[in-house]
Amino acid sequence: MIQFDHLKKSYGTGADAHEVLHDINLTINDGEVFGFLGSSGAGKSTLVRTINLLERPTEGKVVIDGKDVSHVTGHDLAELRTKIGMIFQDFNLFQQRTVLRNVTFPLELAHRPKAQRIERGKRLLRLVGLEGFEDRYPSQLSGGQQQRVAIARALANEPKIMLCDEATSALDSTTTVQILDLLRRINRELGVTLVIITHSLSVARNICDRVAMIDGGNIVETGETAALFANPQSDILKALIASAEEQNGRDEDEDGKPVEPAGSDTDDAKTAANTEEAR
Ligand SMILES: Nc1ncnc2c1ncn2[C@@H]1O[C@H](COP(=O)(O)OP(=O)(O)OP(=O)(O)O)[C@@H](O)[C@H]1O
Ligand SMILES: [Mg+2]
Repeated sequence: MIQFDHLKKSYGTGADAHEVLHDINLTINDGEVFGFLGSSGAGKSTLVRTINLLERPTEGKVVIDGKDVSHVTGHDLAELRTKIGMIFQDFNLFQQRTVLRNVTFPLELAHRPKAQRIERGKRLLRLVGLEGFEDRYPSQLSGGQQQRVAIARALANEPKIMLCDEATSALDSTTTVQILDLLRRINRELGVTLVIITHSLSVARNICDRVAMIDGGNIVETGETAALFANPQSDILKALIASAEEQNGRDEDEDGKPVEPAGSDTDDAKTAANTEEAR
């Protein structure tokens, strides 16, 4: 379980201090797929990066499985991070390493024996659908394949939590759906709690059990995805939904059928913010 307890985050010090997260209180349950939805600069990445302490809270705490981790350092921090995998929009693979050696990198850091690393690396590549790609380099893969390698690498230490920061934003709509299917399977079959950051309503709708809408460093509403989207309370989520519906209307072909597959990763929140501004 991940708990944010009166968490605040500021960047800068003294007169330059600028608070970007204001009194965040939220619990993410084990085994959940939890989404943070919000427009650019809302504070999504900053908040999620406090879970593995890539960012430290300025006030309040992050509690994981009952333990306040806000101040952990050294060995405890390293151990915490092995329990938390992370993937990014731009994949962040090591270009000079083969696919297999990307996946086994965290196991090298953990000083696992070579035979065990190779066995586990190959098993993870099978899991993400990349059997036979072991000896390629990242530059020889498509974006979707690179994200599969990043997912396999994030799973190397058998994490309980996986943080996904705009993991499908660089991918086309078909590949997005495939990667979301893979993430869902990892959640169901391995019981990994997924924390998903997205701008996209369709991504949130596709994969998240619950969603928190973030605006200007505040959580403005939280709920089960379908119920939240059926009955939004905040202006920002209402605008986001209206803008997505407008977009769908424009995308309908002459038979009235949508031309974009479900899960298309358009930048809904940015569009909504712009629409809101234009009003
Ligand atoms: N290292 C930093 N130093 C100073 N300000 C920062 C830093 N990182 C983020 N910020 C500011 O914090 C706020 C929240 O940024 P954050 O990256 O969390 O937003 P986001 O919701 O993830 O946006 P995006 O969707 O564009 O990734 C922004 O105003 C940003 O400018
Ligand atoms: Mg971000």
